Amino acid sequence: MNHFQYKGNELFAEDVALKDIVAKTGSPVYVYSHATLTRHFKAFDDAFAGAPHTICYSMKANSTQSVLRTFFNLGGGVDIVSGGELFRALKAGVDPNKVVYSGVGKKDEEIEYALNTGILMFNVESEQELTRISEIATRLGKKAGIAIRVNPDVDPGTHPYITTGLKNAKFGITIERALEEYTRAKSLPGIDIIGIDMHIGSQLTKVNPFVDSIEKLKIMIAKLKGEGIALKYFDCGGGLGIQYNAEEPPLPSDYGREIVAATKGLGMHLLFEPGRNLVGNAGILVAKTLFTKSRDDKNFIMIDAGMNDLARPALYDSYHGVQAGCKDQDGMIVADIVGPICESGDFLAKGREVPMFKQDDLVAFMSAGAYGFAMSSSYNSRPRVAEVMVKGDKFEIIRERETVEDLVKGEKIASFL
Ligand code: LLP
Repeated sequence: MNHFQYKGNELFAEDVALKDIVAKTGSPVYVYSHATLTRHFKAFDDAFAGAPHTICYSMKANSTQSVLRTFFNLGGGVDIVSGGELFRALKAGVDPNKVVYSGVGKKDEEIEYALNTGILMFNVESEQELTRISEIATRLGKKAGIAIRVNPDVDPGTHPYITTGLKNAKFGITIERALEEYTRAKSLPGIDIIGIDMHIGSQLTKVNPFVDSIEKLKIMIAKLKGEGIALKYFDCGGGLGIQYNAEEPPLPSDYGREIVAATKGLGMHLLFEPGRNLVGNAGILVAKTLFTKSRDDKNFIMIDAGMNDLARPALYDSYHGVQAGCKDQDGMIVADIVGPICESGDFLAKGREVPMFKQDDLVAFMSAGAYGFAMSSSYNSRPRVAEVMVKGDKFEIIRERETVEDLVKGEKIASFL
């Protein structure tokens, strides 16, 4: 069920018209559907109903606390990549025992914070990191639960910027080295080896690369067992794609079936780090048309949202569906929908057939719940936008629009000026 639908001419989020939201919050605004977040989480969870598992939502996709709380209420945990994410997750009420910590560049103070919090495990991405975690844990009189993030050298067939499981990527430890590192980890005083981890990329539209990677890791798991290293957790990472346009990603149930089959008999507790799959299609960005102009055969629609609010089109040339807030335009037009930022890369849709938007018309960018607000910035001194969550016929502002005062927070004019 799509919760962003027209009722008459008006586009709704669940039972609330977008124009009613904008009347209260102003524009632009990110709007999330609680029903969609819930449905996506449950679909993912149900896909693994037969196997012991925990969903550690990859909060980099959308770290807004109300989104986190929605998943925590359903039993989820988080995959974090910074101390800041840990702070947010704790504020939103995460169970520390459902936190896994990934990322190639963990700082000492972040490791210490995570150890003091008592997270489930660190997904270790380098030899030096393993040593450092052991040192810090020992100093604190603790043991750090760890998994090694193994780079299986499998091509996920996705955008190069979001491919992470190939040998030349900065992520993880190669299979060959990982065996040695597990053996070394056994002798480190601050380390408790509890798992194995992989994450091969994002927006995957096939299950095979996941299964191929699991098969490679299974060989390792068997070898480790032979050396007396028994692992409890198998972290399969995130990466399951969604439909933005014409993609046909597997359903969570198909993905689940194959992964359960591939991991059967291992007797391990599965962990997953889905990000985009849970939130991508649960959020939209709503903006307002400022001006339109045409020259030669080129049409531009200037809106009040830009690449600072939704960076994905500028960064990856990615596609976000465009829908009118109210369908009262006189036909369609091929146009570039562009923002106010002083860069040519500042477009949200390019050469797209869209409604003939007029001044003040609302424009909705679909599938913007993942890596939308989370990647937004205040470039060009544009305050970051508001966020709203809708549940049925109610909505609440879950993040106030930043003010210009927020823009200068923490800034000081040097005393010698
Ligand atoms: N686990 C790890 C270790 C990750 O690095 C990522 C994403 C995930 C899980 C979640 O992946 P997902 O399920 O969302 O595919 N900004 C890009 C995507 C970057 C993904 C980074 N890592 C975009 O807008 O497409």
